[in-house]
Amino acid sequence: MKQRIFSGAQPTGRLHLGNYLGALKNWVALQDEYDSIFCIVNLHALTLPQDPKTLRQKTLDLARVYLAAGVDPEKATIFIQSDVAAHAELTWVLACIARMGELERMTQFKDKAKGSAERAGVGLFSYPVLMASDILLYQTNLVPVGQDQKQHLELTRDLAERFNRDFGETFTIPEVYIPKAGARIKSLQDPTKKMSKSDENEAGAIFLDDDADTIAKKIKRAVTDSGTEITFDETRPAIHNLLTIYQLVTGKSEQECVENFSGKGYGQFKSELAEAVVEYLRPFQERISAYDDDALNAILKTGAEKARSIASV
Ligand code: AMP
Ligand code: TRP
Repeated sequence: MKQRIFSGAQPTGRLHLGNYLGALKNWVALQDEYDSIFCIVNLHALTLPQDPKTLRQKTLDLARVYLAAGVDPEKATIFIQSDVAAHAELTWVLACIARMGELERMTQFKDKAKGSAERAGVGLFSYPVLMASDILLYQTNLVPVGQDQKQHLELTRDLAERFNRDFGETFTIPEVYIPKAGARIKSLQDPTKKMSKSDENEAGAIFLDDDADTIAKKIKRAVTDSGTEITFDETRPAIHNLLTIYQLVTGKSEQECVENFSGKGYGQFKSELAEAVVEYLRPFQERISAYDDDALNAILKTGAEKARSIASV
């Protein structure tokens, strides 16, 4: 029997290169080897205010992104979280064994609540319990995500172990899969922050639907570090980030990347990087319009049926 992977993304904002390199790319790489389930987590999106009509559209658009990135509906199950009622049901049960203290420690909650737990929604607080339900419902072995989800995965494991100890062996304990390179792509404008959907400064992120011109401009304006060498040096986070992007989109080794830019200046580096990113995203951008709404809805319906049958066992 194949091992199972489960992952998901929220249908909010615009997906960026960080989502692609940190998550989607790995889903596609793993889907042959694993029994794969990819979810569009629209219930998670409700933890912040959403317009219902826009959310519905974005949910469908995210399914399109999964497919254009190369998730194959013949191999993987793709579905919308709210189509499977068991996610919300298990969330209640797990909420009853989760502790306030462990949820209070979640850094994503602290970030999103912007320092005011008093005013934050209860959903935002219990968000990681819903995420644990997503994963545990399917007896998941491996969860491919970016670095920012590591803490949520640890909580998921803790809840599963607690449940198994108190009520008997029930859940598979999942492992996290975080890529060696690309797990935390940084903002082009501030390499101390992650590239993010919600950054007010749009110049910090390369969105998957940015055209070639926009990509080139953003890379040209990306901040750099002092010094001139183009190497993987953690103490020079801006260049490290740009070089990591170059490495991931070209598929070259670290050494090949460094050799390629030895003796070259930042200007040359940035123009080669821009070209490589545009080339990398081109097939994705061509495929994004390949699925009309009817085709998508059919895939999601089949996906929901499969997911429901696994979740109900
Ligand atoms: P989200 O957009 O928050 O639903 O995230 C979807 C996936 O993208 C998750 O696995 C995140 O860990 C991953 N991700 C988000 N931002 C980044 C980033 N800047 N670098 C790498 N992975 C990321
Ligand atoms: N919390 C994740 C994020 O914001 C999305 C997510 C929800 C997820 N449920 C999941 C990821 C289950 C992996 C597995 O990126």
